[in-house]
Amino acid sequence: MCGIVGYVGPRPSQDILLAGLARLEYRGYDSAGVAVIDGEGTLGMRKKAGKLAVLRDSLADSSLPDGNTGIGHTRWATHGGPTDENAHPHLADDDRLALIHNGIIENFAALRDELLADGVSFRSETDTEVAAALLGREYRNNGGDLQLAFRGVVNRLEGAFTLLAMHQDHPGLVVGARRNSPLVIGLGEGENFLGSDVAAFIEHTRKALAIGQDQIVSITPDAVTVTDFAGTPVEAEPFDVSWDAAAAEKGGWSSFMAKEVSEQPEAVANTIRGRIQGDQVVIPELEGLDDLFIGINRIIITACGTAAYSALVGKYAIEQWARIPVDVELAHEFRYRDPVIGDDTLVVSISQSGETMDTLMAVKYASERGARTLSICNTQGATIPRESDAVVYTHAGPEVAVASTKAFSAQITALLLLGLHMGRVRGSVEDASVDVAELTALPEKIAKVLSSEQEHVTQLAGWMADTRSVLFLGRHVGFPIALEGALKLKEISYIHAEGFAAGELKHGPIALIEPGQPVFVLVPSPRHSAVVHSKVVSNIQEIRARGARVIVVAEEGDAAVLPFADEVIRIPLAGAMFEPLLAVVPLQIFAMALATAKGLDVDQPRNLAKSVTVE
Ligand code: M6R
Repeated sequence: MCGIVGYVGPRPSQDILLAGLARLEYRGYDSAGVAVIDGEGTLGMRKKAGKLAVLRDSLADSSLPDGNTGIGHTRWATHGGPTDENAHPHLADDDRLALIHNGIIENFAALRDELLADGVSFRSETDTEVAAALLGREYRNNGGDLQLAFRGVVNRLEGAFTLLAMHQDHPGLVVGARRNSPLVIGLGEGENFLGSDVAAFIEHTRKALAIGQDQIVSITPDAVTVTDFAGTPVEAEPFDVSWDAAAAEKGGWSSFMAKEVSEQPEAVANTIRGRIQGDQVVIPELEGLDDLFIGINRIIITACGTAAYSALVGKYAIEQWARIPVDVELAHEFRYRDPVIGDDTLVVSISQSGETMDTLMAVKYASERGARTLSICNTQGATIPRESDAVVYTHAGPEVAVASTKAFSAQITALLLLGLHMGRVRGSVEDASVDVAELTALPEKIAKVLSSEQEHVTQLAGWMADTRSVLFLGRHVGFPIALEGALKLKEISYIHAEGFAAGELKHGPIALIEPGQPVFVLVPSPRHSAVVHSKVVSNIQEIRARGARVIVVAEEGDAAVLPFADEVIRIPLAGAMFEPLLAVVPLQIFAMALATAKGLDVDQPRNLAKSVTVE
């Protein structure tokens, strides 16, 4: 939930750290700080509550001394509120040592008591300062050997952590470690970087090394060494980042979210590319791995938030094409309820970041129980794919806005591909030509929704800026889209919103309908199922009769909805499984436009962070 960056090299580090933090700010934005060691071996540090801009302003007033070694942090508070004192870095060893942290140190209270008894005093309420103080003590006990001291510390910590530390006695050295929390190395020429993800250093290098679980890294300008927690050297896995700095810039857009919504045709096209052979879907990464899909009798898809809603669409598609039961489980529920799984179960995890702690723990749990694991992920080198037997990457490019949009579309696309791939392998799909044609037509159709409905939906949101509650209804694959529409609105415009299965309406939610209540209804095509379509039209009549203001999302030419709708948003004709990718777009635009109309920060909504790397 926090962003971490480290630098060693010939250049002044402060600006490099600030630029890295700006790219990582989506991970947490309630306080930020940097520390540098200058040429004289003096450590300078500044940290401020508030967004990165507050720290920037403070440094603009009085900069830290020039230093070529530095660490920086942007925080999402866990232990202790967002104050200057609780911001990172935390100092120890008479302020000669600085340490930053992402994660939660579960045994911090016991360690704190131990250190208090030892005469240590603390300035913050954080678990991180305990790690800093422990490192200070280990450093003194180990004759000033920073690497040895650092190893001593990580072996005493329980929980999840990425730590970076430096000491003014060792300019040109930053040490780091990770356990269940992300850290990657960026390889430069005569300089090296550490970051929570590659965005931290993407403007300097696209060459990276992934660090495994429970590993320690030391970087100097000319060398990178990686060991396990016992100090045994290990090989880190090299990878090249497939996108460049420009992809993570806002460009001329008003927000990252606006940019990312508009990038959906490309995100879907890039996720499909290279995975269609003739009339069939063949995912090259899964070739030779048919065993994952044969001899199983059940699939569980596990994820959180938006990724879990994409999973619900995947359930319909995989069951239809691969003819195998699919359950969708929120990762945090799955793991703590003793699920019945074994080697006849395939557990598919979905995560944009590849670092969501709940999802990561669900994958580990599934592996320990003997299940086969496959992840769908948007981030190269992330932990979840590394912990899985196989991975299908989405190629949405970097997603910076906290509200997930293009990653959602890419996740659904990957699930559709997976369903067709599995169907072919399992022999339940003989001819995929119609579905392949639907897939390849998707980018253009999404682009059409973006161009034809942008203005209409934005205007609608403007009229509804004072609305206190919005409901979303859908059936079949429209149900997960109703959930996603509600989540988007909640998270960025702070309006009460709920998504329901339309069939559930009469079992309770219809009591919420009062005159003027806005309700979005996702109407499935009558070409897919006349029965389901007519049931949704009946639901519309029921809420209309009770005064709801009905906004329907329906395919072009569907006239049945016209007599009962206050507003009609049109989407192009598409196959049943492909419609969600079109229907979600107006809901994303609506949430974004409404948040903008309320004057809210669309990219960095309150209380949230992009990657939830704590449980
Ligand atoms: O990185 P992940 O896909 O694992 O993240 C999962 C959720 O935290 C994420 O989708 C969250 O719900 C988004 N803020 C929704 O817009």
